[in-house]
Amino acid sequence: MNERTDPKADSLQAPEWVRHGKLRDWVAQMAKLAKPARVVWCDGSQAEYDRLCAELVSGGTFERLNEKLRPGSYLARSNPTDVARMEDRTFICSARKDDAGPTNNWIDPAEMRGTLGRLFDGCMRGRTMYVVPFSMGPIGSHIAQIGVELSDSAYVAVNMKLMTRMGRAVLEHLGADGPFVPCVHSVGTPLVAGAKDVAWPCNAKEKWIVHFPETREIWSYGSGYGGNALLGKKCLALRIASVMARDEGWLAEHMLILGLESPEGEKHYVSAAFPSACGKTNFAMLIPPAAFSGWKVTTIGEDIAWIKPGADGRFYAINPEAGLFGVAPGTSEATNPNAMKTLRANVIFTNVALTPEGDVWWEDMTKEPPARLTDWQGKEWTPGCGRPAAHANARFTVAASQCPSMDPNWEDPKGVPISAFIFGGRRSSTVPLVVEAPSWEDGVYMGATLGSETTAAITGKVGVVRRDPMAMLAFCGYHMGDYFAHWLKMGKSVARPPKIFRVNWFRKDANGKFVWPGFAENMRVLKWIVDRCGGHAQGVETALGTIPRYDDLNWIGLERFDRARYEEIARVDDKAWGEELKSHDELFGKLASHLPQALETRRGNMHQKLAA
Ligand code: OXD
Ligand code: MN
Repeated sequence: MNERTDPKADSLQAPEWVRHGKLRDWVAQMAKLAKPARVVWCDGSQAEYDRLCAELVSGGTFERLNEKLRPGSYLARSNPTDVARMEDRTFICSARKDDAGPTNNWIDPAEMRGTLGRLFDGCMRGRTMYVVPFSMGPIGSHIAQIGVELSDSAYVAVNMKLMTRMGRAVLEHLGADGPFVPCVHSVGTPLVAGAKDVAWPCNAKEKWIVHFPETREIWSYGSGYGGNALLGKKCLALRIASVMARDEGWLAEHMLILGLESPEGEKHYVSAAFPSACGKTNFAMLIPPAAFSGWKVTTIGEDIAWIKPGADGRFYAINPEAGLFGVAPGTSEATNPNAMKTLRANVIFTNVALTPEGDVWWEDMTKEPPARLTDWQGKEWTPGCGRPAAHANARFTVAASQCPSMDPNWEDPKGVPISAFIFGGRRSSTVPLVVEAPSWEDGVYMGATLGSETTAAITGKVGVVRRDPMAMLAFCGYHMGDYFAHWLKMGKSVARPPKIFRVNWFRKDANGKFVWPGFAENMRVLKWIVDRCGGHAQGVETALGTIPRYDDLNWIGLERFDRARYEEIARVDDKAWGEELKSHDELFGKLASHLPQALETRRGNMHQKLAA
């Protein structure tokens, strides 16, 4: 830790372990612009983490939780105007508007630089500027990337310690001239001399999350929350990385990675894309039902996958993150026992409720809510008071190494070989439980046309199907049509591309009830998928692809789920698919000028197959 108080005299002096001239110059230049009171280079040590957490407690941002019930853990309450990612304030400022495409917000980069120059001038006055070096992926992995985030938020610095490999070791690896992605973040509220800080500083009037894809830069202003502020995650690992991946021939995807090992020791890794709020974390940490004795699911990652072609003709994937930044509400012993174990200690909770004993609670954590709580805004709460106790997007931040299901190879710098890609969304009708694409191109079509019903947590409008291609709508740093072309090209870049599947856990019956029990029972589908990869499972051809018949799935322990019930979720209804294709046409129409011919052709084939 290197802390100095006079910025003009010596606070720009970097510690001796910073050997990178360009990094020092950039930090000095940014400090000159943002004018912080001091600059702190984070070394990533536990002592530094503890010290910053203690400062956050004394400043009122953190409340320490009961040391017996939730050791080493803290609760933060954000400003109610700063509770989630803001897609309408997120910009891809490529040199040409056409490169950002119609699904991204775009502003001319010169104009944007002017705006940022004005906003950042003096924006850190009275605050500390933390220099946070981080590696996305195991340090030194040929798939990993290094970033350096400058932030005036200690909350960001401690969250980055849990979410990434952060600190001195990263800069030692970077050496004197290695490449890094510069990321600048400010909460956008300078502290006027003598003024008392608030618990959650942010700018209630103005928020900007800006990416310059050509120069690989990220600038974020006004928000201190999650993906807006922890710039390694959505900004670097998806928006900027997707552009790097396009240029360099790899894939940066909004995907979990899990391993499935059979009792005989056959192991497959699969990578699965689901839009936000579709249960990715639960699926990544699945515990097989009792009937699957000897089968083991292991976790590599639960949000993002970076995937490169390997010399043996397969794709290899790493999880670029080192921590989980998960949605708390809905997480419970029933839905995700591994997550509950992960959360026993050393967690930063944001916007959950507080129990009188100093522990945390959120909706559906237990069947019965506690009799009395302090809600996420610090107000008294009782069951039936008409308000949720935790915010719907309340989060936990925790090191992935605490999760009991982490795979022994989760930090292997080479990555793990991928046997299958899975695309899934939340669809109450139309889309069957599982279908295997007949070819890579058909699979790309499936991913490109992925749709999911919105939840209250995301838009406030419930149940509207939003097209979310490959679950990347909010995260692709360039034109979506070019992204589809890149996927088509990547299928040809390896001799043994993974099989591609579409799943849907969310189909409802005539009474509006979910038909499929989900959660641990998803194992039955997962097993069919890896059995297809290993050549051990059968199915029936349909207009969409191969679908398992009732007898092709293992029902031991779930015999109550009979043939008729299965038919309800395996059925391909031609009329519903006619409507579905119209909405694919709408998406493709929007992307027409960059849409690859191969997808156009697939779309035509689908119309024909369904008409037949
Ligand atoms: C997330 C998201 O936070 O997808 O992971 O919104
Ligand atoms: Mn996500």
